Amino acid sequence: MSDFTDLWNEIAPIGRADSGGYLRYALTEPELTLRDWFRTQAARRDMLVTDDGNGNLFAWRGEPWAPGTVLTGSHFDSVPHGGGYDGPLGIVSAFLAADRVAKSRSIAIAAFCEEEGGRFGVPCLGSRLLTGAIAPQQAGALKDRDGISFAEALGKTPDGAQPARIGNLKAFVELHVEQGRALETPVGVASAIWPHGRWRMDFAGVGDHAGTTRMTDRHDPMLTFAFAVLAANKEARLTGAHATVGRVQVEPNATNAIPSLVRGWLDARAADTGTLDQLVDGVVRKVTERAGRDGTSLTVTPESVTDEVAFDEALAKQLAARLGNVPILPTGAGHDAGVLSAHVPTAMLFVRNPTGVSHSPAEHATDEDCEAGIEALAAVLEELS
Ligand code: GLV
Ligand code: MN
Ligand code: MN
Ligand code: MN
Repeated sequence: MSDFTDLWNEIAPIGRADSGGYLRYALTEPELTLRDWFRTQAARRDMLVTDDGNGNLFAWRGEPWAPGTVLTGSHFDSVPHGGGYDGPLGIVSAFLAADRVAKSRSIAIAAFCEEEGGRFGVPCLGSRLLTGAIAPQQAGALKDRDGISFAEALGKTPDGAQPARIGNLKAFVELHVEQGRALETPVGVASAIWPHGRWRMDFAGVGDHAGTTRMTDRHDPMLTFAFAVLAANKEARLTGAHATVGRVQVEPNATNAIPSLVRGWLDARAADTGTLDQLVDGVVRKVTERAGRDGTSLTVTPESVTDEVAFDEALAKQLAARLGNVPILPTGAGHDAGVLSAHVPTAMLFVRNPTGVSHSPAEHATDEDCEAGIEALAAVLEELS
């Protein structure tokens, strides 16, 4: 077995559900077990582990936050029933790449907190806190589905921005499984992340009896919601963007009651900000008109919106050349690398995903391609440190 297979098998059972996917929400038991594993791996390599008071963990070869350190890593948390590679591959690869980099190099490994926003709703929460993209009070008040706040889960109000520390980093490199049928070679380099965001849509109507309320007397928010899902899909197809409604809550959620409230989350992404704005504005306008006809109302709350990220072009070209002219490609997925790139020269390496599927148990990468990713990451860390 390769180094990769051995190490991968250590974490593969942690948080695995019967679906074959993972339930590794930030700061819950499986993710805390993965953090323990991180500490063990760091100790085996004489790397000092620190946390930044924001839920992010770091393993240091050299002094913590020493000027010139090259940081790599990713996240442990998953979406509900997500794949095992999205996130953890970047951390496992980081430890194995570190083993192949000269001991004199100042490198560090990060495990960022709540990258998926799967528990508290805002993606890249840990890296946003570290870089000051979200205020500690605001982040601390975010609640999970059981009403537990991020501050409660963390045991404190997060510490927030640490610009002097981030300013000392020479570079950040995140290795990640590719997520969209876009990479045909074992390894590629990222060029950009599409602008994207999450909008909560509250459709309010009038709850009533399913059997006795005349069809003409109804104010059914489910109808407006259904229209919104179709409108988002149509608008995305027309503009070449991506729109998804993957989460919905209904009140009172009874078969024989007209709902009083439907809450759905729109995830929208596009190659450029103009297209994304056009998509969201178009959906809101059409759905508001429709709500007028349904006798319902729509309230839209942006929960997180992330601008387009263009990774350092010269750095991407340098690394792609260093790795044998591998492809340079954009992605529609969000990453901590996108958040850090506003503060540190940042690059991403992608590892091929033969299924092309992600945020699903079907996500995959072969051990051979993961090995190629580790080799590439080691080469990149050598090149940059
Ligand atoms: C996170 O992976 C996202 O892009 O939603
Ligand atoms: Mn993800
Ligand atoms: Mn990820
Ligand atoms: Mn992501």
